Amino acid sequence: MDTDRLLQQLTDFLRIPSVSTLPAHSADCRAAAEWVAAELRRLGCREVQFLASGTHPVVWGVGPEVPGAPTLLLYGHYDVQPPDPLDEWTTPPFQPSVRDGRLFARGAADDKGQVFCLLKAIEAAGRPPVNFRFLIEGEEEYGSRVLFDLLRREPERTRADAVLIADMAYVAPGWPAVYTGLRGLCYAEITVRSAKSDLHSGEFGGAAPNAHEELLRLLGRLKGPDGKINIPGLYAAVKRPTRTELTTWRGLPFSETQFLKQRVQAKALAGLKQYSVLERLWALPTFEIHGVLGGFTGEGAKTVIPAEATAKVSLRLVPNQKLKTVERQLAAAVKRLAPRRVQASVRFLHGADPAVVPVDHPAFGLLDRAFREVVGRGTVAVRAGGSIPVVPALGKSGAPVVLTGIGLPDDRLHAPNEKLDLKQLWDGIKVFRRFYELLGAEA
Ligand code: BES
Ligand code: MN
Ligand code: MN
Repeated sequence: MDTDRLLQQLTDFLRIPSVSTLPAHSADCRAAAEWVAAELRRLGCREVQFLASGTHPVVWGVGPEVPGAPTLLLYGHYDVQPPDPLDEWTTPPFQPSVRDGRLFARGAADDKGQVFCLLKAIEAAGRPPVNFRFLIEGEEEYGSRVLFDLLRREPERTRADAVLIADMAYVAPGWPAVYTGLRGLCYAEITVRSAKSDLHSGEFGGAAPNAHEELLRLLGRLKGPDGKINIPGLYAAVKRPTRTELTTWRGLPFSETQFLKQRVQAKALAGLKQYSVLERLWALPTFEIHGVLGGFTGEGAKTVIPAEATAKVSLRLVPNQKLKTVERQLAAAVKRLAPRRVQASVRFLHGADPAVVPVDHPAFGLLDRAFREVVGRGTVAVRAGGSIPVVPALGKSGAPVVLTGIGLPDDRLHAPNEKLDLKQLWDGIKVFRRFYELLGAEA
């Protein structure tokens, strides 16, 4: 493997700041899509198209035709999350740099590095006897609305013998994983208005309502200090993991103490104490506050009573919960918990149903074998706390959805100093190359 050349190419891809949620980066998202399209052409694709290019285009590709060979759909995303806070990066997020065998850049692990891995594995395998299809989107980090609409109109795009997604991580160093479930997401803004406009805090303070105070109290009621979410009906659909799952999870090299000390790096963990940490992460819904807007947050001091305050929040949903139901439950809870003296409203930004992925199709055996041969250990079936909105839609045609990844748990996705270990990258190329070869040999 010409690792210098590969690293140079991945660096070019990572240099493009394709932040899908920020309108100022539209042209960068397009440039990242172009980068992917050029790679697909280099791989000999018969067809390379930008689909649904109203916003950030979905890159569609059809590989060279191999009669009688199985069809494999590769899914990934070229968009990334915003890089802030910038001053916490040791080197700038869009100037990829290698330190200690690790490549630091926004998107190194999520998901450009992994898309790169899937594509370069095809190159490494020569022309494996597989009919490749590609769906590489640019809005995964913002809810995948464009791809959803596209797949609703053109479900035949997902017709394949298998779908392969590399957008996750090993469960622990040396422990590759396949994922049987992903959490869903319900992202919303809760706004509280307490008066017609802002007021002088001396003239009115003590007698006028304060929007921030009202909002914070409301948020405090939505989730108690014990971690229990106070939204009526929310837990009704939640199912305990199966006995087999709980047994597997107990056997993983996962220590709650190390998770706290090395990964969370806080004084204590939060959440429902009566459940194990893995159960809290993989099998229970969450309610998180991402940010609070409104009032005065600039430098200096301003004595004002804000009339409006907004919180960006989200809930993670677990298998058997439905996005539509949870939206209704959240809206009803806000209405019920907000005092009558304020106007409270909820606006939904994006969301995803949770995904349940059976892993008994023979394709999973091939991936297991590929990992076993290359890294010396097969895949363990686990769940993930994160979400990939289109996963349920990709599986609709009945093809097995093979969800895996080459990252490590400490890659710091969405956070400062995101990285990918180069060893993981080189191994990953070998693993997928082997997977393609094994899949091709099946036919
Ligand atoms: N690759 C992640 C999902 C992920 C992360 C799965 C870690 C398993 C472990 C993906 O890019 C992601 O971040 N998804 C968003 C989706 C959301 C914005 C709709 C997420 O989970 O926050
Ligand atoms: Mn991702
Ligand atoms: Mn992500």
